[in-house]
Amino acid sequence: MSVGRDPKIVLLCNILAFVAVGSKPNFVFFLTDDQDVLLNGMVPLTRTHFLLGLRGKTFTNAYVNTPICCPSRSTILTGKYAHNTGVVNNSIAGNCSSRYWQRHQEKHSLAANLKENEYVTFYAGKYLNAYGHKDAGGTKHVPKGYDWWIGLKGNSRYYNYTLSLNGSAKFFKDDYLTDVLTKYGKDFLKMRPRGNPFFMMLAPPACHAPFTPAKRHEHTFNGTKVVRNPAFNYTSSGKHWLVRMQPQQLPQNVSILDDIQRHRLQSLLAVDEMVKTIVEEVESAGEINNTYFIFTSDHGFHIGQFSLPWDKRQPYETDIRVPFLISGPSIPHNTTDDYPISAVDLVPTILDLAGTEIPNHADGVSFKQRLLEIGDEAQSYEKLILVEYWGEGNKKSIDDRCPWKEDGNLAECSKNAWCKCQDARNNTYICVLQFSYSSRLKFCSFDDNQSFVELYDLESDPYELDNLISTITKHKIRDHHKILHKFRKCRGKRCHGIAHNL
Ligand SMILES: *[C@@H]1O[C@H](CO)[C@@H](O)[C@H](O)[C@H]1NC(C)=O
Ligand SMILES: *[C@@H]1O[C@H](CO)[C@@H](O)[C@H](O)[C@H]1NC(C)=O
Ligand SMILES: *[C@@H]1O[C@H](CO)[C@@H](O)[C@H](O)[C@H]1NC(C)=O
Ligand SMILES: *[C@@H]1O[C@H](CO)[C@@H](O)[C@H](O)[C@H]1NC(C)=O
Ligand SMILES: *[C@@H]1O[C@H](CO)[C@@H](O)[C@H](O)[C@H]1NC(C)=O
Ligand SMILES: *[C@@H]1O[C@H](CO)[C@@H](O)[C@H](O)[C@H]1NC(C)=O
Ligand SMILES: *[C@@H]1O[C@H](CO)[C@@H](O)[C@H](O)[C@H]1NC(C)=O
Ligand SMILES: *[C@@H]1O[C@H](CO)[C@@H](O)[C@H](O)[C@H]1NC(C)=O
Ligand SMILES: *[C@@H]1O[C@H](CO)[C@@H](O)[C@H](O)[C@H]1NC(C)=O
Ligand SMILES: *[C@@H]1O[C@H](CO)[C@@H](O)[C@H](O)[C@H]1NC(C)=O
Ligand SMILES: *[C@@H]1O[C@H](CO)[C@@H](O)[C@H](O)[C@H]1NC(C)=O
Repeated sequence: MSVGRDPKIVLLCNILAFVAVGSKPNFVFFLTDDQDVLLNGMVPLTRTHFLLGLRGKTFTNAYVNTPICCPSRSTILTGKYAHNTGVVNNSIAGNCSSRYWQRHQEKHSLAANLKENEYVTFYAGKYLNAYGHKDAGGTKHVPKGYDWWIGLKGNSRYYNYTLSLNGSAKFFKDDYLTDVLTKYGKDFLKMRPRGNPFFMMLAPPACHAPFTPAKRHEHTFNGTKVVRNPAFNYTSSGKHWLVRMQPQQLPQNVSILDDIQRHRLQSLLAVDEMVKTIVEEVESAGEINNTYFIFTSDHGFHIGQFSLPWDKRQPYETDIRVPFLISGPSIPHNTTDDYPISAVDLVPTILDLAGTEIPNHADGVSFKQRLLEIGDEAQSYEKLILVEYWGEGNKKSIDDRCPWKEDGNLAECSKNAWCKCQDARNNTYICVLQFSYSSRLKFCSFDDNQSFVELYDLESDPYELDNLISTITKHKIRDHHKILHKFRKCRGKRCHGIAHNL
C-alpha cells in the first residue's frame, strides 16, 4: 500500500480495474478458404505469426469435421456437426445457405448468440457457397445476428464479384476482394459504437481457386514448386476406390501443380496484410489487451498427394488439418500445443471466453481451460474427433473430353487434371481420430460397395502411407465401427461424452 495517495484516485483506479476485468472481451476471427497447414500454407503469413503466434498459442493438431467449404463453415458458425446442421454439400439441395438452414440453424449462430449478449457484430467475406442464391432470398437476405453484413455472393473470387452490403447488392469489378474486406474491417473498427464489445469475422477468398494474387504480389514466391512430401505421387492398394481410379499416377510434367502452389502462396500475402492492418487498428483503438484474435481455415488442401491433382474432400491430413492461431487475454505467449481441437469446438470456446452460456445444442466442447495453460505443463488427455463427408456426383463437372463423362456418380473430373476425378458418390465416409497423450490413430469407413476401411497410425506413419486394417483383429475393427456409429448419430451433450471417451 502506498502512503499518501489520493483516496479518490485509488477509488478511480479500482473502478477502472473493475471495468477492465468485468467488460466482455472482443473477438476478431479470420477464416481463410482452403488453406492447408501441411503444404507450406502458413509460409506467407509472417506478420500473422509475429502478431498472433508470438503473442498467443498455435494449436498444431487443429482439425475440421468435414473437408468441404459450406458444411465446414456451417459447423464453424454453429458448433454443430454437419449431421446436425443438415448441410452436406455446397448446394442449396444439400442445405447450403438454404431456407431450412436460415430457419433452423442460422438463427442460432455464434454471432446471433453474441449479439443477444451485447456484442456489436460484423461479417465480411465469403459466407456459405450458395449465399445470395435466388431460391434462398438472394443478396437481400442478411443472416440474423449481424450489425454489419458484407457477404460475398456465391463462392470465392477475387475480382468481378457481388457483395451484399447490409442487404443491398453492389458489384465490384477491379477491386481486389481481400483488400476491400480489410477496408470494411477498418471502417467498422472506427465507426462501431463504443461501449459494446465487438465480434468481427473476416473471411477472405484466399487461397481458394482461382488462386488470384493481388497485382502487387504477382512476382513473389518465384521458383516455388509443389511440396513433394512422401505421399506425393504415391500409389497404394490400401486406399479407397477414388484414389485407386485411373490414372493412378501423376505425369512427369506437373508444372500446373507448381503454378497452383505458387499462386496460392501469393494470394495469402494480402491476407497477411489484412491481419496486420486489423491488429494495428484494434491496437490504436486501445482494445488490444481485451481482444481475442483467431486465425484458421475452413479446411485444408492436397496437391499431388496420393496422385490426386488438387482439391480437398479426402480424409487425409492435408485436407482435414488446418492452421490455428489464437491470441488474447491470459493466453500464454509464443506457445504451441499439440492438444487436438476441431471446428465444432470453436463456438463453445468463444462463448466460454465471452463468459456467456453455451447452448445445449452445441456438439463441441470448450477448450478454454487448455487454451490458458502452458502446453507442456498440461495433463494427459483422450480426445476423439469426428470427420464426415458426403461424396458428390455431378455430370456437369465432368469434362466432355474425359472417358467417364456419362457417369453421374462421379464429379470434378478435368482434362487439365489428367481426367483424375476428385469426387464420387462413393467417396462418402466417416472417420474417427483417436488421440491420446501418446497415440494418434485414424479409422475411416467408406460408404461404397466394398465397405472399404482405412486405418492409420499417425504417430509412426504421419503421411498415411500404410493402411493397417489387415493387421488388426475383427474384434478391434468392430470396436472402431461401434464408436463411429455412436458418433455419427450423436447430438449435443451426447457428443461430448464420445469425444472425451467417457
Ligand atoms: C435440410 O436438412 C434437414 C434436416 O437434416 C432435412 O430435413 C431437409 O430435408 C434438408 N433440406 C434439404 C433441402 O435437403
Ligand atoms: C451496415 O449497417 C450498419 C448498422 O446500421 C451501419 O452502421 C453500417 O454503416 C452499414 N454498413 C455498410 C457497409 O453499409
Ligand atoms: C472482369 O470481367 C470482365 C468481363 O467479363 C473481364 O473483361 C475482366 O477481365 C474481368 N476482370 C478481372 C480482373 O478478372
Ligand atoms: C524468376 O526466376 C527466374 C529464374 O529462376 C528468372 O529467370 C526470372 O527473371 C525471375 N522472375 C522474377 C520476376 O523475379
Ligand atoms: C509419378 O510417378 C510416375 C511413375 O513412377 C512417373 O512416371 C512420373 O514422372 C511421376 N511424376 C512426378 C511429378 O513425380
Ligand atoms: C509442361 O506442361 C505445361 C502445360 O501444363 C506446358 O506449358 C509446358 O511446356 C510443359 N513443359 C515441358 C517441359 O514439357
Ligand atoms: C497492454 O498490455 C501491455 C503489456 O501488459 C502494456 O504494455 C500496454 O500498455 C497495454 N495496452 C493498453 C492499451 O492497455
Ligand atoms: C518463441 O518460441 C520459440 C520456440 O520456443 C523461440 O525459439 C523464440 O525465441 C521465441 N520468440 C520470442 C520472441 O520469444
Ligand atoms: C447435395 O446433397 C443433396 C442432398 O443429399 C443431394 O440431393 C445432391 O445431389 C447433392 N449434390 C451433389 C452435387 O451431389
Ligand atoms: C457400386 O456403386 C456404384 C455407385 O456408387 C454403382 O454404380 C455400381 O453399380 C455399384 N456396383 C455394385 C457391384 O454394386
Ligand atoms: C464407385 O463409383 C464408381 C462410379 O460410379 C463406380 O464405378 C465404382 O464401382 C464404385 N466403387 C465402389 C467401391 O463402390
